[in-house]
Amino acid sequence: MANKTYYVTTPIYYVNDKPHVGHAYTTILADVLASYHRLLDIPTFFLTGTDEHGQKVQQAADKNGITAQEQCDQTVIRFQELWKRLEITNDDFIRTTEERHKVIVQEVLQDLYDRDEIYRAEYEGWYCVGCERFFTEKDLVDGNCPECDKPAEAIQETNYFFRMSKYQEWLIEYIETHPEFIQPGFRANETLGFLKTKELQDLCISRPKSRLEWGIELPFDEDFVTYVWFDALLNYITAIGYKRDDEHFSRWWPATHQLIGKDILTTHTVYWPTMLKAMGVPLPKTIFAHGWWLTGRTKMSKSLGNVVNPMEMIDRCGVDAFRYFLIAEMTLGQDASFTEEAFVRRYNSDLANDLGNLLSRTLSMLGRYCDGVFPKVGKNALEGAPEKKLWESVQQAVEEMEGSIDTMRLSQGLAAVLGAVRKVNKYFEIKQPWTLAKEGKTEEVGITLVLAAESLRVCAALLYPVMPERMGTLRTAFGLGKPELAKLNTFGVIKAGTAVGKAEALFPRVELKKEEPASP
Ligand code: MSP
Repeated sequence: MANKTYYVTTPIYYVNDKPHVGHAYTTILADVLASYHRLLDIPTFFLTGTDEHGQKVQQAADKNGITAQEQCDQTVIRFQELWKRLEITNDDFIRTTEERHKVIVQEVLQDLYDRDEIYRAEYEGWYCVGCERFFTEKDLVDGNCPECDKPAEAIQETNYFFRMSKYQEWLIEYIETHPEFIQPGFRANETLGFLKTKELQDLCISRPKSRLEWGIELPFDEDFVTYVWFDALLNYITAIGYKRDDEHFSRWWPATHQLIGKDILTTHTVYWPTMLKAMGVPLPKTIFAHGWWLTGRTKMSKSLGNVVNPMEMIDRCGVDAFRYFLIAEMTLGQDASFTEEAFVRRYNSDLANDLGNLLSRTLSMLGRYCDGVFPKVGKNALEGAPEKKLWESVQQAVEEMEGSIDTMRLSQGLAAVLGAVRKVNKYFEIKQPWTLAKEGKTEEVGITLVLAAESLRVCAALLYPVMPERMGTLRTAFGLGKPELAKLNTFGVIKAGTAVGKAEALFPRVELKKEEPASP
């Protein structure tokens, strides 16, 4: 399709504290998806940002003895620095305290108010600051928030409400007739289960300034600010020019993939679609909910104090290995456990032993047996049975990796690519180019090494969105620039006569940190 575009978003992160692995994961996942689409030559837009209003941020500011704006300005830098370090290639970064966002939120509010989609009434219920969500008495579990199990606060105040309840039947039908809208499918069932068994309430969309000042003022009542979720969800369209730049907006909207963690399923699959419906804006194609990173069996979260600091892992193993681990280890949709042991095991086996070792073997043999230059091989290079078999396996990996992007099974795609890498290592064991060289079979040595290098070229292209820096280094060793996915099915892309690069260790082995021995 000539006019196909790809728009991917991450949730916008609260700036009450610094980022952790959970945040890094969603952003890396979006980056990997964006990068694959760019390589496929599909016009791509990748948005991330920060959610800066609400009680949670205000409380963090109070605790730190600074203003809410200072809290935002100081914390947003930590996110932006981490994204830079993680090689994130977002096209825009939206902060909800920016003018370009606030004015549009106010326009939306005014429009909905004028059309009686928003009304004023008394609110009596419960609020969880951790989740920034309103709950009814019935929702609570033993007096605690049903989402995070922390105490909720009782609230009685005048507020403004969005007529969300009137969209209940419409939303059920929409989800049922659009199976791609909520992914994976079991999450759609979760939302449907909720919608079919509970009466949807209208959504409280304001907080009185007497209770919370840190928010966007309602344009029709200066005593109130808007509820943080109503403000936050709109970032996905304010950033791309909703009500400001129609051309830009219609180029990217509806979004292709809106990535979220499973903790924010209701807000994205109930609040967000009903808001869009009331606004007359089409719904995103897919809301995709991934699982949690756990420490042992519990969710990794700042308040539980069990977070893994991404910076520390990156310092030890490099950014690309960190990105690889997160994408390879988590089956999209399921939870996964982050442990140093699992990280070191996967790093050493997939990256140091299989991939890194294959590159250094190939380069050093090209140096030793072919004078450091890619030999010319004839058209018959793929005619031998082991050659044909290997190239077919590599092509199979191409198919699996490409298929895994559409079906969001990236970990399976990566496993297929690593499978192909292992087959190249096995191919060396079968062919034994070192013996062939001793026997003076120069042409066969050339074919073996060129086929290994071509296979590595293809694998590196497939791994490039996950490990851009290291795979770039690998390709440079073959005299190649950025990968072109169109050339993955072609054999013989590396030019004969190219001088091979140095065999640097792409992924040096790492050891598990040993416990300090007890002093005698
Ligand atoms: N500000 C809201 C989102 C508004 S989007 C319009 C919010 N922010 S958050 O900072 O608390 O978390 C955002 C996202 O971080 C979660 O949805 C999830 O994607 C990710 N994660 C936070 N902890 C996580 C794990 N332990 N594991 C995986 N991802 C999790 O919610």
